Amino acid sequence: MKQGVISKVAGPLVIAEKMHGSKMYDVVKVGELKLMGEIIELKQDRASIQVYEDTAGIGVGEPVYPTYQPLSVELGPGLLQTIYDGTQRPLDRIKEMTGDTITRGIDVPPLDREKKWEFKPVASPGDQVDPGDVLGTVQETTLVLHKIMVPPGVKGKVKKVEQGSFTIEQTIAILETDQGNKEINMIQKWPVRQGRPYVKQLMPSEPLITGQRVIDTLFPVAKGGTACIPGPFGSGKTVVQHQLAKWSDAQIVVYIGCGERGNEMTDVLMEFPELTDPRSGEPLMMRTVLIANTSNMPVAAREASVYTGITIAEYFRDMGYSVALMADSTSRWAEAMREISGRLEEMPGDEGYPAYLSSRIASFYERAGRTICLGKDRREGALTAIGAVSPPGGDLSDPVVQSTLRVVKVFWSLEDKLAYQRHFPAISWLRSYSLYNRALEDYFNEEIADDFVKLKNQAIRILEEEDELQEIVRLVGLDALSPPDRLTMEIARSIRQDFLYQNAFHEIDTFASIQKQYKLLSLIIHLHEMCKWGLERKISIQDMFNIDAIERISRARYLTEDKIDQIDQIKDEIDQQIKALYEAKTTRGGSK
Ligand SMILES: Nc1ncnc2c1ncn2[C@@H]1O[C@H](COP(=O)(O)OP(=O)(O)OP(=O)(O)O)[C@@H](O)[C@H]1O
Ligand SMILES: [Mg+2]
Repeated sequence: MKQGVISKVAGPLVIAEKMHGSKMYDVVKVGELKLMGEIIELKQDRASIQVYEDTAGIGVGEPVYPTYQPLSVELGPGLLQTIYDGTQRPLDRIKEMTGDTITRGIDVPPLDREKKWEFKPVASPGDQVDPGDVLGTVQETTLVLHKIMVPPGVKGKVKKVEQGSFTIEQTIAILETDQGNKEINMIQKWPVRQGRPYVKQLMPSEPLITGQRVIDTLFPVAKGGTACIPGPFGSGKTVVQHQLAKWSDAQIVVYIGCGERGNEMTDVLMEFPELTDPRSGEPLMMRTVLIANTSNMPVAAREASVYTGITIAEYFRDMGYSVALMADSTSRWAEAMREISGRLEEMPGDEGYPAYLSSRIASFYERAGRTICLGKDRREGALTAIGAVSPPGGDLSDPVVQSTLRVVKVFWSLEDKLAYQRHFPAISWLRSYSLYNRALEDYFNEEIADDFVKLKNQAIRILEEEDELQEIVRLVGLDALSPPDRLTMEIARSIRQDFLYQNAFHEIDTFASIQKQYKLLSLIIHLHEMCKWGLERKISIQDMFNIDAIERISRARYLTEDKIDQIDQIKDEIDQQIKALYEAKTTRGGSK
């Protein structure tokens, strides 16, 4: 077999000579140990190779074996419930084989070769099929029906399609193609750095409901949209990402833990398999693929992991599912790019990141979208991509934050000031934005309530007014405010504490349906209206905020979903109690 020769080893980067015949992004096996690597620069027959495993002990003069294949993932039944590393090695199965430390050069296929799946044909002999057409299905987990599709680039007439129990390598159908008979099994391979094909992109029009009030009501992300969560150390990025993975109404979740603190990834690995899917009561892993890079894994694997993750996500999107992909944190990915670029001695850009940082980040998020999938039945799929960013010191001028903000449409800005005050999620209501607001207006007004958008805009205005008033209070004190302004301050406080604040660790508060969110906000805005009514009748703000109903407002978010109609009763109580204050005042006035 033709092979190259190592001429230099620099951490995750290996230089090899005599590599003619290989192409950029080909996978190679490096050294006697056959470590997996990828060619990332090619000058004549000298290749720079980023190696996905620890290169310690690999020396000059050792061989490099070409595979002539690009870095690819395996797609098929068995993806769900699996925990992979950045290059799609199944961590659980490797652990069974080698114990806690992964033996280098170990070659374990990403999908189980032995396991049998019940394949049920959808296509029939004689059908003319094209890429994306569904040949049959496999119930992969209780939650997900896996569609076995004609792979991209293949078409023909179904000659035979079998029902029964098969491993992923066994033939389930035979197609008559222009190049003769083609046997189809349940595995597809796809190069990770290339987006999977679809018919066309559609405008996102439905929100991804996450159950997180500040997100769904104020700064929603669309199904098929993109969002980022930049935030300083410890401000709650990971908690938000976990909440989205647990609660968002996506059918499939792909979670990429990208080399955050070592113990944080352990949390993911320990916690996720324990989680229950709130809608079905089944383990959440039944609809989840986890990609884990701990900080002790080589940087190159981290670089690959976001591509591995998004390719798997695209594959499920192609089946017509709504997929949510979380990456925590993309800064670790960018740092991997920076390290490798440094070793390649490329010209550094901002903060030492490579000049292509922005285009890499853009091409990642551009793989999200709402699409018409390949296939005759014109399935519609959605891939929502949500990335955490951890800029040093929380500085938003960081190149990774800036490059991300240029492409994503939703910005959830975490503020350490809010986190110190234990206001969670610490998403700034003043700085964050969603560019989907307009596109989702119809959905919220038609599907939830016709005044949904109006209420939300009122809430935003009150919060903005509070911000301006706070400036005045700082200068001249609270007493200088007019009663209507003091009322605004009180209502803003209620919006923050009784609506935006949400405890991820409280059994009930952790998730709020969109109907509950609407009712809660509507309650607070109703209080505002009634207090204005009271103010016009010279009732003091203090008296109005002493009514019993106020206490019930602050507890309303702890009502279980089956009791949310009680929120409407609180409105009646507000009316009665404020009117009672007015009556007491007028009778007192009358008896004088
Ligand atoms: N919604 C929430 N409800 C209650 N507590 C929260 C919430 N969000 C964050 N916290 C608290 O803040 C802590 C830090 O959150 P988290 O680990 O998500 O921060 P991070 O931004 O990911 O930090 P790092 O930069 O270290 O990765 C959590 O352990 C938790 O105590
Ligand atoms: Mg974190």
